Amino acid sequence: MNIEFGEALFKRLLPGEARGKGNDMASKIANQPTAASMIEADLRFHLHPMTKPGDRSADDVVVIESARGCYVTIGGRRYLDGLSGLGCVNIGYGVPSVCEAGFEALKNLSYAHSFGGLANKDAAALAAKMVELTEGDFAKFFFSSTGSDANETAVKIAYYYWLLRGQPQRRLLLSRKHGYHGNTLVATSLTGLDHYHPQFGLPLPGLVHHADAPYFYRYGEGRTPEDFGLAAAKSLEDTILAVGAENIAAFFGEPVQGTGGIIVPPDNYWPEIRRICDKYDILVVSDEVITGFGKTGEMFGYQRYDFKPDLITMAKGITSGYFPVAAVGLSAKVQEVLASSDDEFEHGYTYCAHPVGAAIALANLAIIDDELVRRVREEIAPRIAQALQRFSGHAIVGDTRGVGVMAAIEFKAPSGSAEDATELGARVSKEAFARGLIGRQIGATFALILPLVITDEELDRVLSVTDDAIQATMADGPFDADLAWADWPEVKD
Ligand SMILES: Cc1ncc(COP(=O)(O)O)c(C=O)c1O
Repeated sequence: MNIEFGEALFKRLLPGEARGKGNDMASKIANQPTAASMIEADLRFHLHPMTKPGDRSADDVVVIESARGCYVTIGGRRYLDGLSGLGCVNIGYGVPSVCEAGFEALKNLSYAHSFGGLANKDAAALAAKMVELTEGDFAKFFFSSTGSDANETAVKIAYYYWLLRGQPQRRLLLSRKHGYHGNTLVATSLTGLDHYHPQFGLPLPGLVHHADAPYFYRYGEGRTPEDFGLAAAKSLEDTILAVGAENIAAFFGEPVQGTGGIIVPPDNYWPEIRRICDKYDILVVSDEVITGFGKTGEMFGYQRYDFKPDLITMAKGITSGYFPVAAVGLSAKVQEVLASSDDEFEHGYTYCAHPVGAAIALANLAIIDDELVRRVREEIAPRIAQALQRFSGHAIVGDTRGVGVMAAIEFKAPSGSAEDATELGARVSKEAFARGLIGRQIGATFALILPLVITDEELDRVLSVTDDAIQATMADGPFDADLAWADWPEVKD
């Protein structure tokens, strides 16, 4: 970035009395930000998520300036966002009808709570819309703000359900290795990715049991995908038998494990999971925070993988990230038990059913219609699958997998070392970025979660840049961050 950084410049930007005084400095920047002072402010005053809290320099600060369609602008350059933000911007950025719906809602009713049955029209319409989109598989919806708090809510609903059914001892939760369910204390405990745990002494002791993941490439050697699908589901049954079904409240699973590396299960896995959970009367929670709203080529992942959950959690794509909204859907089975109580449901947040979020969600869901999802299933997914097939011919590619707009390429190093494979993942990700494509490195995996609205031309570019990035990594020449790039197609409104 062509900005002069550092202490000397920062001091020149500030009036004498502000220099060296922490609070004055902060208010000066807050009130009159410039490009350089904002970078300094970010370094000094902003604790970022998933980022080293110290030891950052100005060169580490990547400023995202604006975004439109499938593109974001960083340092004056356009990049195609092949990760849709964090897997949330399903309809692309800055769609006028959604922005206008939010603005109108803000002007009309900038806030309303929903405690004690207080209603607002857009939240009521959104609840009805969700019942329609899930084709009646869910009878009622609870709204909150994030995927993590949706999962916390689902845990509380499961606990309350069992209390009302006279089995309050059902407190244990099941999930899977490689799963991701968010970052509040219980959601982190459900998460089966080890690096999220040690800093906080998690998982909460004795709360969660993690069964095996249906990760065929890592664990399926010597089996067919079908045998492996049954074996992975059997690991859940073994866990149930080990801890006692009578102690278990619910099983949480993502239809496709996203943050774990786009782990696509064999087709027979989820129906078998449902069968096992029915056998032991265990609630199934489908965590669709990533897979919801068209990403798998069906509106929801449970429809793609042919099972019926008891509860569903969602966030991200419900507003395409334009406003923080999340939802929990309750099947009729769960809703009927909750409705049998005369007591209030003692759970809620200030921002439940926010009228602005609901209006934005409705405008967003008017765009994610059957035709858009059909195009993902019938046009985008087959083209990605063809490209993945081609990539699997490269010597450093160990596995490729994908469904809908979600795709992953997992690398293997000639040395056989896991660290070297992770290096390959990092290099491919850097090479793609240098060519104007944003994806995500997850260990040895390069992951893409494309916007549903990606054009044919843009998709071709994503796939050819990914191929170029893999080939450049194999060639292992000097890295050139300044490749001549991005004659990407024009951004259309
Ligand atoms: C499957 C899944 N569940 C839950 C979450 C947590 O959502 P949030 O970050 O909105 O709390 C995520 C976030 O990536 C997710 O992918």
